[in-house]
Amino acid sequence: MINNIFKDVTIPNQFQIEKLINQELYLVNGDLRSWSGETSPVNSAIFIENSEGNLERKVIGSVPSMAEENALEALDAAYDAYDKGRGEWPTMKVEERIKCIEEFAKMMVGTRDEVVKCMMWEIGKTYTDSCKEFDRTIEYIADTIQDLKEMDRKHSNLQLHSGVYAQVRRGPLGVVLCMGPYNYPLNETFCLLIPALICGNTTVFKPAKYGILLLSPLLEAFQKCFPKGVVNLIYGRGRVLAAPIMKTGKVDVLALIGNSKSANALQHLHPKQNRLRLVLGLEAKNPGIVLPDCDIDLAVQECVLGSLSFNGQRCTALKILFVHKDIVDEFNKKFVEQVSKLKYGLPWDDNVSLTPLPEPDKPSYIKELVEDAVANGAKVLNENGGESIDSFTFPAVVYPANENMRVFHEEQFGPIVPIVPYGDIEDALNYVSESNYGQQVSLFSNSADSLAPLIDMMVNQVCRVNINAQCQRGPDVFPFVGRKDSAVSTLSVHDAIRSFSIRTLVAFKGNNLNKKVLNTLLDTKQSNFVNTHYIL
Ligand code: G3H
Repeated sequence: MINNIFKDVTIPNQFQIEKLINQELYLVNGDLRSWSGETSPVNSAIFIENSEGNLERKVIGSVPSMAEENALEALDAAYDAYDKGRGEWPTMKVEERIKCIEEFAKMMVGTRDEVVKCMMWEIGKTYTDSCKEFDRTIEYIADTIQDLKEMDRKHSNLQLHSGVYAQVRRGPLGVVLCMGPYNYPLNETFCLLIPALICGNTTVFKPAKYGILLLSPLLEAFQKCFPKGVVNLIYGRGRVLAAPIMKTGKVDVLALIGNSKSANALQHLHPKQNRLRLVLGLEAKNPGIVLPDCDIDLAVQECVLGSLSFNGQRCTALKILFVHKDIVDEFNKKFVEQVSKLKYGLPWDDNVSLTPLPEPDKPSYIKELVEDAVANGAKVLNENGGESIDSFTFPAVVYPANENMRVFHEEQFGPIVPIVPYGDIEDALNYVSESNYGQQVSLFSNSADSLAPLIDMMVNQVCRVNINAQCQRGPDVFPFVGRKDSAVSTLSVHDAIRSFSIRTLVAFKGNNLNKKVLNTLLDTKQSNFVNTHYIL
């Protein structure tokens, strides 16, 4: 039996929620407006003992439940601020936009403690990982600024081809509807929002289902650092807010990290789909393929990390393991040993790895998957595997997994690890080829001879092949993308800037009249686009 992590809890002072965090303001058209309408409680991932000694889910605050009219008002603010590309923000010098983002990042640094605390309570992420997520986001902003400067420097010269002078730059696309996921509510959302903004787009931004209050400390920074209407932050249900926004046809980019059902439904509501650019990060079912000639200890270590960091709630998590039958017994023994050593508890506990889950239905879903696997011939290999107390579920390692089981096909996004024994590598390769998803794969082997043909086949099935390592997105300068139903558009510090902009140029036939006009434009620096200014 697992210990009840919610009993006899001492919450360190710095993580106490002294009073409810009620989000009373929202940001539209540069105003922090008071919300007096309906609100929804913000439930924590964590259960707490009440005065009668019963466990109940901690409510940590509330957020506005906005309606369609509020969503459309926010959209109009973004639409007007873009003003069909004629607004202050899209026509501003890149250097000035960079200054706004730098100012924002400076203010953001001061909110670290509050943001981290909310993240721990709202989604149950450990203190260490919450800090990492915050710091990684700040670093991402700094790297994006550097990359854009570099790009702008390259664009600061004129080109001459076939007697035509041209200045080629990247321009914004328009209004971006931006929605991030609950598992990286800060980092993944900002990996969309920051490049969208820095490229000159205006935004309507709706936080994920969980991990909402952690944005509250940033509202003032958004309001102070950007011209009115450039960032609009609304709260409420996606169906109520995002659907009417899409129906207007005023959105130019749908930037969403989440599930494909919402992405598909939303994109089809747009009346002029050719105008809509999609930047989507969707489901994945990344496999780990463990070859008989691998370093088993290393493979186990990486597979445990890959499948169970943040309780398996990462789009890049290893969601199924194929292990060669000659080594599967040893692999399983060592894997189970490592899982049993993972410390479980609350997000502020030292060295904790496994924590409560924010989605209320997730423990029962994991239980269903375990029962289905057992009914189809698997055993739960580890002690306490699948046991659950309220929002906490101890990981279940199920073996032998096979194609009749739901967990073989479904993206579990939680603490269950199916292990499939294989004799013929074709079984593992076919799984990848036939999968609806195509994000990443991990291959474990010591031998270049074994790896070479697999690498050459796998790079055409997925978008990142990890050698003797778990799947992951970072470092954030590397392209993060997926094939098939896993993604649309590429994200990375550099690629995200490209995803949120379009190449646009000004061309001059090299006659005397145009040379004179061009010289005047360059000398007087009247145009923010046609100029040879070099950002330092
Ligand atoms: O949920 C998907 C994240 O992009 C994964 O990022 O691999 O750095 O955990 P990560």
